Amino acid sequence: MAYFDNMENAKEYINMAEGIDGTYLVNILKKYLQKGSTILELGMGPGKDLNLLKKDYKVTGSDKSKAFLDLYSDENKDIELLLLDDKTLNIDRKFDSIYSNKVLIHLDKDELKESINKQYDILNNDGIALHSFWRGETEEIVDGLKFVYYDKDELINLFSKKFKILDIAYYTEMEYKDSIYIVIKKA
Ligand SMILES: C[S@@+](CC[C@H](N)C(=O)[O-])C[C@H]1O[C@@H](n2cnc3c(N)ncnc32)[C@H](O)[C@@H]1O
Repeated sequence: MAYFDNMENAKEYINMAEGIDGTYLVNILKKYLQKGSTILELGMGPGKDLNLLKKDYKVTGSDKSKAFLDLYSDENKDIELLLLDDKTLNIDRKFDSIYSNKVLIHLDKDELKESINKQYDILNNDGIALHSFWRGETEEIVDGLKFVYYDKDELINLFSKKFKILDIAYYTEMEYKDSIYIVIKKA
């Protein structure tokens, strides 16, 4: 069973992430994405970023973990949620935007390439995506969960094969410039 499929692990993450949300990233996305656009969040986890996004956009939340979806839907019956793996993105619909915060870090590099190709397919023309990653050069497995770290050059190399890069920068989450976000466009 994957780590976050376990309800206790999902609840522990929610407690651990108390006080952290993606305000910084959502504000960057707002510079590029018109109000009222459709947006699919990948790996929504507790759904704090989804709560921010839903103020301006028509949101669909998703995660590979049913535990997170169940916990969120208990409190938010009106929000569309999908059980979705961000590697395969097996969905027959298109969106104006895709958002993820520290989610694609759990794919290995070949899986990330697969996800990027699928993201291209499920975005409308001129669609925008914003993703965040941990910064670094290594890979590790913690509690059976894979963590893959990136620097700017590697992300540019991976995403520019399918997308135009609108913005990419290091930012601070826990430690100085420990994170990277990238904003891409289906051109
Ligand atoms: C570090 S948590 C981040 C959660 C949330 N985005 C946040 O910022 O708090 C990683 C999330 O990615 C989800 N996840 C991991 N692998 C996934 C996959 N292959 N497809 C979709 N979601 C995945 C996990 O279930 C978890 O909710």
